[in-house]
Amino acid sequence: MADIQVLTIDGPSGSGKGTVAQLIAKDLGWHYLDSGAIYRVLAQAAIKHSVDLADEQKLAVIAQDLDIVFSLADNSLKVMLEGEDVTTLIRSEKAGNAASKVAVLPAVRSALLERQHAFRQLPGLVTDGRDMGTVVFPDAAYKVFLTASAEVRADRRYKQLKEKGIESNLSDLVIEISERDIRDSERTVAPLKPADDALILDSTAMGIDTVFERVRALCADAY
Ligand code: DC
Repeated sequence: MADIQVLTIDGPSGSGKGTVAQLIAKDLGWHYLDSGAIYRVLAQAAIKHSVDLADEQKLAVIAQDLDIVFSLADNSLKVMLEGEDVTTLIRSEKAGNAASKVAVLPAVRSALLERQHAFRQLPGLVTDGRDMGTVVFPDAAYKVFLTASAEVRADRRYKQLKEKGIESNLSDLVIEISERDIRDSERTVAPLKPADDALILDSTAMGIDTVFERVRALCADAY
């Protein structure tokens, strides 16, 4: 396992880590793990089964047996929960906030560890999240921490939602993103923070192409 190479891309919501991770995974021909999607699906399963988002023990049991299937269709990630397509459902701001709540619970995080490790398959893995380089794959050969100001991230999110025909309010998004940053960064277990050996990229004034080139340069010897 440990000899299978991993590139971790961690960062706050809206930093562009998912987009860059998918582009790089395709470029390298490696597998891709969207760890945030697991937390989003777990929160969705809890809502579906009327389990309180703070009930650590019950959530850990659900996390252990979570019936989740990822597949790539037309270059985008399709997510199934208990046979139901939840791809769109889990991407709402509400689902992101619910995910951030279940993610603070230590028993939930440890129940999901093995599931994440199982994605480490040949020829390699690109993964994005909050604790990929610090906790889940600390021995990864390549680590990136991608960030950007909350205003720029909210603005990107606003445009993404608009493209999908979803109306939102920019100042509400700035508040929601800042609140989520605080919850993700200040939790006691696996908080959002760069690994000591991560390349830190601030994409506030950087386009996706530049970020992609910088990450590509970091893993040049994997090509
Ligand atoms: O990356 P995302 O926005 O899809 O993640 C949704 C939430 O899941 C995020 O607010 C915190 C949690 N999360 C986490 O705690 N650890 C990860 N590795 C990935 C996501």
